[in-house]
Amino acid sequence: MYRSHSCGELRASHINNEVTLSGWVQKSRDKGFMIWVDLRDRYGITQLIFDEERTPKEMMEKAKSLGREFVVQVTGTVIERESKNAKIATGDVEVLVSKLEILNQAKLPPFTIEDETDGGEDIRMKYRYLDIRRNPVKDSLIFRSKVSMEVRKYLTDKGFIDVETPYLIKSTPEGARDFVVPSRMNSGQFYALPQSPQTFKQLLMVGGMDKYFQIVKCFRDEDLRADRQPEFTQIDCEMAFVEQEDILEIFEGLTRHLLKEVNNVEVDKFPRMLYDDAMRLYGNDKPDIRFGMEFGELNAATQHKDFGVFNSAELVVGIAVPGGNAYTRKEIDNIIKWVKRPQVGALGMIYARVNEDGTFKSSVDKFYDQEDLAKWAEITGAKPGDLVCVLSGDTNKVRAQMSALRMELAERLGLRDPKVFAPLWVIDFPLLELDEETGHYHAMHHPFTSPKPGQLELLDTNPGDVKANAYDLVLNGNEIGGGSIRIHDKETQAIMFKHLGFTEQEAKEQFGFLMDAFEYGAPPHGGLAFGLDRLVAILGGQETIRDFIAFPKNNSGRDVMIDAPAVLDNTQLKELSLQLAIEE
Ligand code: AMO
Repeated sequence: MYRSHSCGELRASHINNEVTLSGWVQKSRDKGFMIWVDLRDRYGITQLIFDEERTPKEMMEKAKSLGREFVVQVTGTVIERESKNAKIATGDVEVLVSKLEILNQAKLPPFTIEDETDGGEDIRMKYRYLDIRRNPVKDSLIFRSKVSMEVRKYLTDKGFIDVETPYLIKSTPEGARDFVVPSRMNSGQFYALPQSPQTFKQLLMVGGMDKYFQIVKCFRDEDLRADRQPEFTQIDCEMAFVEQEDILEIFEGLTRHLLKEVNNVEVDKFPRMLYDDAMRLYGNDKPDIRFGMEFGELNAATQHKDFGVFNSAELVVGIAVPGGNAYTRKEIDNIIKWVKRPQVGALGMIYARVNEDGTFKSSVDKFYDQEDLAKWAEITGAKPGDLVCVLSGDTNKVRAQMSALRMELAERLGLRDPKVFAPLWVIDFPLLELDEETGHYHAMHHPFTSPKPGQLELLDTNPGDVKANAYDLVLNGNEIGGGSIRIHDKETQAIMFKHLGFTEQEAKEQFGFLMDAFEYGAPPHGGLAFGLDRLVAILGGQETIRDFIAFPKNNSGRDVMIDAPAVLDNTQLKELSLQLAIEE
């Protein structure tokens, strides 16, 4: 038996018990006549004590030889500590060691295995297995496990069946690039790894499974950000004989269940916001509604004077920054510099201070009088002591810029409290989105999403105006999940493919299997997928998903620990018929 107790278990009630513990040496303090060793495992830390009076000489020598991260097994008696440590659960006791076995030695780790480590990101990624020994990473993984168990519990209770779908498939159009896998047995041909199990879950509905879920890996070759990994995990779900309302209800219930079980937070019914309103009021489709600072459109209140910048703009939009009048001129200049960074891209920013006495002072006093500025304040909801920030230009660009500014200022003002949870459904997304570069429309969600009833005809005349039966769950300004009611008849699906620029032949080649299935009694169906990594990170009070993934990729999509991706040797390339491409 390697251990009778864990290193987090012993309390005053165990005093005088003989125990056996196994774990890693966190650190040791050697006073010559007395040695203390902190022994660590997943559950905590227990102090071991060796002293000249009570410990045999050779064991004393062995204890002195212990280095950081050695793996040891000890047997000893639990005794009361002379100086107690209230900071750790086992701080009332220590173990007077009678038997010490070194199970394995360890090289000095390249960074300290402590909550606050001296190791930079790169080195910790390279030695991720050591990083996992640290509490912040370990706790995040345990937290993730708890969330996914609660998800399984909730969905299973609601009658969902966990079905696995294949990883070696054909391209699924979720909007990113595919990772592909060459086939040895089918020379020159490739599988694609699923960007999601979208088509398979729809086929499961045709198969009568009725309620499906899967906690499943998805693969997308896209640019990485804090909330994106090339392989990530979805809580993927689909239901038959449902309308949007049924789906929102079930998954609102799931989110509420998680907030209760995991965070002990009770949340009221989730608000719903139309996509168009989200764009108008927050400039993006995943608004953080933990705080206000909603957009006020100022065209009418600004375009009657001689200020050319505003007059020529498609949209003039402002936000009220609470308490912003306290900013110094220098601080405001810094904000202006911030919006002019290439990542944000604004050409400049106009502002108006709202003084405590209700008067105004703006950067465009030459053009606008107190009455005008009072109107700006009214429209943006600015109060005495606030600052109105105004941007102008093309609607889409300005909205994105103002949205970035709103988030940045809220962050600086401490309004993005990670302990507050503000879920939101964004509904009625457009069916199609115009790609400004190519001038083509593509599906905003995916090509299997159904248009709102009665809107199919609009596709020919005003494709950009067609609304979809599509919805997203947003939590604290992050897109946690998205889904839709699907098309379930062949004709509508064919019309959709046509509008997305597929020829009949191409549609048949790529999605013939789905269109065929729709001819064999496909029930009305719909579903959604949550990003598990994102959900776990937000519930855990963070926005970087990497911290909640055991072995994540870095920003260049590399696993620096195993050094992947890597080149293949020639024999393997030949076997996979990949030789040609290399020679080119
Ligand atoms: P969608 O593409 O919106 O929908 O993806 C669902 C959710 O998955 C998460 N997500 C990601 N998380 C981490 N890294 C990524 N690269 C990444 N990409 C997406 C997001 C997102 O909301 N098949 C549809 C679902 C459906 O219609 O049922 C789909 O995949 O949290």
